[in-house]
Amino acid sequence: MDIDKKYIRVGVLGCGAIGSGIAKSISGELKKFRYQLTALYDVDPLKSSRLQKNLHLKNIVRSSFENLLVNCDLVVEAVASDCTIDLVARTIKAKKIVLVMSVGQLLKDLKVLKSAEKYGAKVLIPSGAIAGIDAIKAGSSVKLRSVTLSSRKPVKAFRNNIYLENKGFDLGKIKKDTVLFSGNVAAAVKAFPQNVNVAATLALACGDISKVKIQLIASPKAKLNSHEIVVKGDFGTIMTKTDNEICPDNPKTSYLAVLSAIQTLKDYSSVVRIGT
Ligand SMILES: NC(=O)c1ccc[n+]([C@@H]2O[C@H](COP(=O)([O-])OP(=O)(O)OC[C@H]3O[C@@H](n4cnc5c(N)ncnc54)[C@H](O)[C@@H]3O)[C@@H](O)[C@H]2O)c1
Repeated sequence: MDIDKKYIRVGVLGCGAIGSGIAKSISGELKKFRYQLTALYDVDPLKSSRLQKNLHLKNIVRSSFENLLVNCDLVVEAVASDCTIDLVARTIKAKKIVLVMSVGQLLKDLKVLKSAEKYGAKVLIPSGAIAGIDAIKAGSSVKLRSVTLSSRKPVKAFRNNIYLENKGFDLGKIKKDTVLFSGNVAAAVKAFPQNVNVAATLALACGDISKVKIQLIASPKAKLNSHEIVVKGDFGTIMTKTDNEICPDNPKTSYLAVLSAIQTLKDYSSVVRIGT
């Protein structure tokens, strides 16, 4: 493959809703930020070939995760799987830059994150579908007293959840806003692996995972995912609320989650960085 060295070569791992959105941007507006899409990999080859076709990409590596690693400098992780933490660990070991979307998975084994220093890798974690991570990071250098997150989502967002089935929740009977979970992030990650990326990002930004209390609310009236954060500490109080529109290309995901990943890539390659 003909690779221009002044570009940062990117491999997109996972070609679903989020990976496709980010890949589209890398092969378009992010070119002027020195990015070049060189590899796509999905365990389902139909998804990577469809994405390659949709983006009119000619020279692209699609054969395996191992080949993706060899052919890029930066991996965008957008995989929905229990083995995500292993893929991130292998990316770090290969000394690559990795942008992680499945942040909840990272909490399964924080040693993986710490190993980045040992291998000389770099891990980028976008704010995702929440606001305030910049101020919370700054505030967390002094004492934090409390950190709470309430995530309100349409009832259908909680379908096919084993924890809820075991608890005997019948989602079909929910007629008003109902708290499905209240507790700490570590427990939420186990019970709701697909619904806690923002909680995990918040917890990592605070630097103390045990500090964050999370409520997950199923709302029959809600059409969008919304997240309210309140952080109190020696710096003062931060309150943020985000009502997330769905992605125009992909109704499965919050627009801001994709936009925040794209902005993280822009910041990474920019001379001027705004915000903490
Ligand atoms: N940080 C955030 O704000 C945020 C927001 C939304 C989603 N997410 C997370 O991002 C990830 C992707 O979300 P999505 O909506 O694109 O999911 P998706 O289901 O649309 O796509 C996931 C893709 O991963 C592929 N995949 C599964 N196992 C794989 C493997 N071992 N190797 C390669 N590909 C594999 C699937 O075939 C699928 O195409 C999920 O973990 C989700 O929880 C994070």
